[in-house]
Amino acid sequence: MTERPKASPVCASQSERSEIVFPADANALGNLFGGRLMQFIDLVGATAASRHARAFTITASMDHLDFVAPVHVGDLLILKSSVNRAFRTSMEIGVRAMVEDFRAQTLRHVSTAYLTYVAVDVNGQPIEVPQIVPETEHQIRRYEDAGHRRELRYAEVQRKRERRSILAPEWHL
Ligand SMILES: CC(C)(COP(=O)(O)OP(=O)(O)OC[C@H]1O[C@@H](n2cnc3c(N)ncnc32)[C@H](O)[C@@H]1OP(=O)(O)O)[C@@H](O)C(=O)NCCC(=O)NCCS
Repeated sequence: MTERPKASPVCASQSERSEIVFPADANALGNLFGGRLMQFIDLVGATAASRHARAFTITASMDHLDFVAPVHVGDLLILKSSVNRAFRTSMEIGVRAMVEDFRAQTLRHVSTAYLTYVAVDVNGQPIEVPQIVPETEHQIRRYEDAGHRRELRYAEVQRKRERRSILAPEWHL
């Protein structure tokens, strides 16, 4: 059995990504397409997860995503990600997306998401991740909230597994 890697503070893996929204990213109304925003969220989330785990990570779930306000073509989108809590092989990552008005120097919140990533070895097998050390008041609150969300998520995963095992024999295209 290999030893669990050393614990790290939240700030060591916090990540950021900036994107200017182009017409190719937009829907028919000229707003950023939701699926494209989800891709940006997944990428910045994976960056924080892999930095913390010091390993490859895969997205296990994106369990909460609010689109609070539309993002328009030409907007400067800023995405920030942070490890809320590390469990055994998985981590909850929080992502906050904002639009920066660089003329007024203001930030507008547009989306928040919680994702779970699992650290894997080169064979795709889950491996243990370092514990996370929350330091600030916000980090401690997110750490505690992530524990509650994990309980809800776990119950939902179990419910779906049981449901799948009941329905699976009847599934066909
Ligand atoms: C994520 C995955 C590795 C979990 O496999 P599994 O057989 O359930 O593995 P385990 O039961 O050992 O669980 C591993 C970890 O994943 C977590 N997990 C499993 N399913 C989960 C889900 N739906 N949501 C959140 N976490 C989940 C478990 O809680 C566990 O975390 P822990 O060790 O911190 O407690 C597997 O479902 C998978 O490979 N999925 C595809 C991932 C992928 O390809 N993502 C890219 C999107 S295309």
